[in-house]
Amino acid sequence: MPAGEYEFVVVANRLPVDITVEDDGTLSWERSPGGLVTALAPIMQKNGGAWVGWSGKAGLEHEPFDAEGIHVSPVTLSAQEIAEYYEGFSNGTLWPLYHDVIVPPEFHRNWWNAYVAVNRRFAAAAAEAVAPGGTVWVHDYQLQLVPSVLRLLRPDVKIGFFNHIPFPPVEIFAQLPWRRQVVDGLLGADLVGFQRPGDASNFLRAVRRLTDLQVRGPQVTIPGRWTRPDRQVRAQAFPISIDSTAFDELARTPDVIARAKQIRKELGSPEILLLGVDRLDYTKGIRHRLKAFGELLEDGQLRVPEATLVQVASPSRERVEQYQMLRDEVEVTVGRINGDFGTLGRAAVHYMHHSYPATEMAALYLAADVMLVTSLRDGMNLVAKEYVAARSDLGGALVLSEFTGAADELTQALQINPHDIAGTKATIMRAITMDAREGRRRMRSMRRRVLQHDVQRWADDFLGYLAMSVPSERETV
Ligand code: F6P
Repeated sequence: MPAGEYEFVVVANRLPVDITVEDDGTLSWERSPGGLVTALAPIMQKNGGAWVGWSGKAGLEHEPFDAEGIHVSPVTLSAQEIAEYYEGFSNGTLWPLYHDVIVPPEFHRNWWNAYVAVNRRFAAAAAEAVAPGGTVWVHDYQLQLVPSVLRLLRPDVKIGFFNHIPFPPVEIFAQLPWRRQVVDGLLGADLVGFQRPGDASNFLRAVRRLTDLQVRGPQVTIPGRWTRPDRQVRAQAFPISIDSTAFDELARTPDVIARAKQIRKELGSPEILLLGVDRLDYTKGIRHRLKAFGELLEDGQLRVPEATLVQVASPSRERVEQYQMLRDEVEVTVGRINGDFGTLGRAAVHYMHHSYPATEMAALYLAADVMLVTSLRDGMNLVAKEYVAARSDLGGALVLSEFTGAADELTQALQINPHDIAGTKATIMRAITMDAREGRRRMRSMRRRVLQHDVQRWADDFLGYLAMSVPSERETV
């Protein structure tokens, strides 16, 4: 296959830009918000980088274009592929399977076939873009077959893969009818990165159980054939982070500070403001959080209007049935709590089904006394890190599920098992009544971690390890 010209290629389901099609058919784009783009943009601008991804729109065909020094290469997906590869196999099969089967995963052969076809298309686009001996970094569960397909097409390049979500224990992973193909797909990479050490060891256990390959510590040996030498694949944890300094600075701006005060006033100046911020996803434990809050009101441990909960639930995967069911359940529960405990002009729960810009999020974090992160399973949870980065005043308390990747690092958060409603209620009350000195000490320690381990350091660590992997067959190009 002919080589491309880009030394560094990122392959991710989503592009780093949001594309808009104007009424007259012309296209315009805007950089998407998000840590991954922020971390990788400087590396791409410096080294000549390309980004292969889907625009988020059905049937959108577009030639590659340059956006702020990044060569953007859109992969076209038809409406049927979106239904089968994205909503189906990625979010109806893999997402629940990798998140502790909170809802039952569905296994459909037509979804799998679409996943294979789309992964091949992404791999072909990456193979076309990458320069001889270049580096390709593939992201996330939607693209687990890309490493092995790409290695066949371009054995001369270094391939890294990072899984942004958990990797399940083999006992659960083994339910997947195509488990061996997925493991083989990932083993096409030189380096496979995970959020937590537990995810990396789950993957290595799956390799041991499902293949006869040799696994030693973090390394898997792929035996060579003919004159081709053995190849090593390394699996290791690289916990992702946020652009901590930028978030810290944003939350210190006078506008954000003023907005935080205004938010509290608009809410009727409650004594206790609790906050939840999530994509509306069943992994986030929003129902468990509402149950705990509702019971605290029922028990009389909290009262409206002194206490109020702001729940931001940003719309997500709205065409997937499980997400529609979740939305209905959450909205019924919010309505019930407000009906039972709200007063005229003072809601118990302020529920918003919107996304907000970073400035408004920073103001909400700054306004909140207690941040509730109650995920039942979460690869990392960057909301927890954003809350900490925003609190340079050392105020606020973080209640954090132990089932998030962030719990490994934010050991000074008040950790909970969200399935334990009594324990969650007690911890929320502890956060509310915590001595200010203890709160500051905990926040200071968490801030140290988040500010030192930012998304730039994450990308540098991963790419540093990838650079050390033994180069593959450069001479074949
Ligand atoms: O956490 C995994 C992830 O795919 C993120 O990369 C992404 O921001 C989020 O879930 C939302 O995903 P989607 O692309 O399906 O909207």
